[in-house]
Amino acid sequence: MNSELGTALDPLALEDATTLPTYAKPPLALVRGENATVWTHDGRELLDLYGGHCVALLGHCPPRVVEAIRHQAGELLFYSNAVYSPIRAEASKRLVDMAPPALTHVFWCNSGTEANEAALKLARTVTGRSRIVAMTEAFHGRTLGALATTWGDAYHEPYRAILPETTFVPFGWEGAVDEALASGDVAAVILEPIQSMAGITEAPPAYYRALREICDRHGTLLVFDEVQTGVGRTGTFTYGEHIDVTPDIVTLAKSLGAGVPVGAALVNSRVADTVKSGDQGTTFGGGMLAMAAVHAALGQIADENLMDRALELEAAFRKRLEGASGVVEVRGRGCLLGVELDRAAKPVAAALRDEHSIMVGTSKHPHTLRLMPPLTTPLAAAAAFADALDAVLNES
Ligand SMILES: Cc1ncc(COP(=O)(O)O)c(C=O)c1O
Repeated sequence: MNSELGTALDPLALEDATTLPTYAKPPLALVRGENATVWTHDGRELLDLYGGHCVALLGHCPPRVVEAIRHQAGELLFYSNAVYSPIRAEASKRLVDMAPPALTHVFWCNSGTEANEAALKLARTVTGRSRIVAMTEAFHGRTLGALATTWGDAYHEPYRAILPETTFVPFGWEGAVDEALASGDVAAVILEPIQSMAGITEAPPAYYRALREICDRHGTLLVFDEVQTGVGRTGTFTYGEHIDVTPDIVTLAKSLGAGVPVGAALVNSRVADTVKSGDQGTTFGGGMLAMAAVHAALGQIADENLMDRALELEAAFRKRLEGASGVVEVRGRGCLLGVELDRAAKPVAAALRDEHSIMVGTSKHPHTLRLMPPLTTPLAAAAAFADALDAVLNES
């Protein structure tokens, strides 16, 4: 127990009394985690197939990452980009080495929205253009630039007047992108290669290849938001490797620090050659603690072949879920899966949590559960989930 923590108060009541009510939370407080298991403050144990919001790629408290940040915290906890840093240099090299060869440089930041913000700003700098094309149903974050590319009136309404200009086109229809780029003033096309919040929606490979060709023809940058799909979660380090498409910029966050906040925009030489000192910056981006986490996390993914493990887990889940009663479809790749049910998903997710101690996500698709388990989840979790789901669906 952290000696700075008081023990007298109910953590749920205390948090509700002192934080803005911006999140809908289930009535449980987590205090400990190990691999795909988490424990509540009152002693319940749960299987976490939600991965702390698609973050715990290596499970909770992966020992190699924990050891690396413990060590780094005792050496130099933080210094900004005002100086060089060996751990930043090593983490950057490891990231660039694991990424597709054309992505040669990284800009470090602290979150997914910041990575997208950086990508959009860099695209404007490189092209000298201002308009952005994004996809219907997209989610790219909450800061104003990224928010402008996130789909949905509810997100935009209070801020509409100050959001940068974005044209939305239907995800999966390349003709609409070609048309939108014809004006010649589009800096970037941004998309999640698998739309996650939308309910795990993926287009055929030909779509992404067509986007690459269309963007090249119009001099527009192609940006893949891989905040959820990246860092090996779908079985390759970036999604584009499944389909032989390399975007100009790939954004990463969530899994990248295995639980430590960090974001990154990986860019090609067209971008890297244009950027100059002062074009972008953040105090905490590339901080030593985050870099130690990234370095250790990427090392573990490579050393333990965890990208292959993502595909093994996918196969185990698909084997148990495809064709199961009440399951309409299983979508996605690796450890980013959508399970479409024949009924509303939210009550099913609540029953899985409350009656079977399994945490899963939902999405904007009302019938779809989202699974974002660690790549280190035991294969037996697929059967545990399928059995619990079957029990819940048979009860309701
Ligand atoms: C695809 C995608 N992009 C960007 C973001 C924003 O990331 P963050 O919450 O770290 O700002 C998210 C968050 O859920 C996301 O799913």
